Amino acid sequence: MSERIVLAYSGGLDTSVGIGWLKKATGKEVVAMAIDVGQDGEDMDVIRQRALDCGAVESVVIDAKEEFANDYIMPALKANAMYQKRYPLVSALSRPLIAKHLALTANRLGGNSVAHGCTGKGNDQVRFEAAVSAINPDLTSIAPIRDLALTRDKAIEYAAEHNLPIAQSKKSPYSVDQNVWGRAVETGFLEDPWNGPIEDLYEYTQDPADVKPADEVIIKFDQGIPVEIDGKSITPLQAVEIMNQLAGKHGVGRIDLVEDRLVGIKSREIYEAPGAIALINAHEELENLTMERDVNRFKRGVESRWADLVYEGLWFSELKSALDAFIDHTQRHVSGEIRLKLQAGHASVTGRRSDQSLYDYNLATYDSDDSFDSSLAKGFIELWSMPSKLSAKRHGIEK
Ligand code: ARG
Repeated sequence: MSERIVLAYSGGLDTSVGIGWLKKATGKEVVAMAIDVGQDGEDMDVIRQRALDCGAVESVVIDAKEEFANDYIMPALKANAMYQKRYPLVSALSRPLIAKHLALTANRLGGNSVAHGCTGKGNDQVRFEAAVSAINPDLTSIAPIRDLALTRDKAIEYAAEHNLPIAQSKKSPYSVDQNVWGRAVETGFLEDPWNGPIEDLYEYTQDPADVKPADEVIIKFDQGIPVEIDGKSITPLQAVEIMNQLAGKHGVGRIDLVEDRLVGIKSREIYEAPGAIALINAHEELENLTMERDVNRFKRGVESRWADLVYEGLWFSELKSALDAFIDHTQRHVSGEIRLKLQAGHASVTGRRSDQSLYDYNLATYDSDDSFDSSLAKGFIELWSMPSKLSAKRHGIEK
């Protein structure tokens, strides 16, 4: 058997041309691997056949939707993960999963290198290659667009010359990446960060300005994982899919962000992640109800570090696993129900209850049921203020 490259294949122009391009440049056979992470585009069988028609020696399709939801999205939900406080890591989460399957497929089908269709300017090249080498350090990575001068124009020319079965007619002005956790859109007129997004960009969400009567939904969590929606048992994947529908209808989760890429560039991206935003809002509030104060505060810092690590391609790293262990430990009591109101772009928590709740009505109330001993507060404040008092005495009274 001659040497083989396993290519992460999307079915689009670049990776379709990439098959022949890689073969010509390296002399190796190309195995195409397409992966379903809930991107909801073309039929995966059509994509599989297209790779063969474009010259792949083998073509595999992997349905990884459940794995993506269980092993990638759920940890992100438990971490309330948002890069720069706003971006729920849509693309960043799918890359380590795809990379893992690239490495496993290479193992299984005799590949000694892997390939992907990323450019040399983005985060995804780093995520793919860092993850691949964390799983199998002997594999080499190759990127035809970055390493073998495969430009868009050359790709179009090549496809026409070789009669490749890919539609080139309606070239989208945007670069889009999507999966069940959300959708990312960049380039085109969006590259001017002063240009506002247009309605045309969105597919997962309806216009939040078109206000509809509110919907209410009750999400039940067990140890940080959504297990029921409105009383019906659901899997993690179903939770995300259902919330995409319910929250998407109200325009929840539209994000317009100038973000700091790993390679140092600032870039502007439009995201829509209705299910992600609704679920994170709900989960975070259940933590507020059930999590001990210091754990809750400390976790907020861990969450931000977790999001940075995942954004920067370090999914399979020692620090990320260690933070996962901490986060999992914090979820032991994050069980209960959250009521969300969905309307006009917002997913707002309007109710929460849990048998693990640390909210004590008798301590919190201002009614006659009050059991809190306010006399304790006086001495507490004396001690609490002691360091400031001492320091104030040293620098004298402000004039
Ligand atoms: N900026 C996002 C990230 O680095 C999304 C990358 C893919 N975006 C795209 N529109 N193709 O995670």
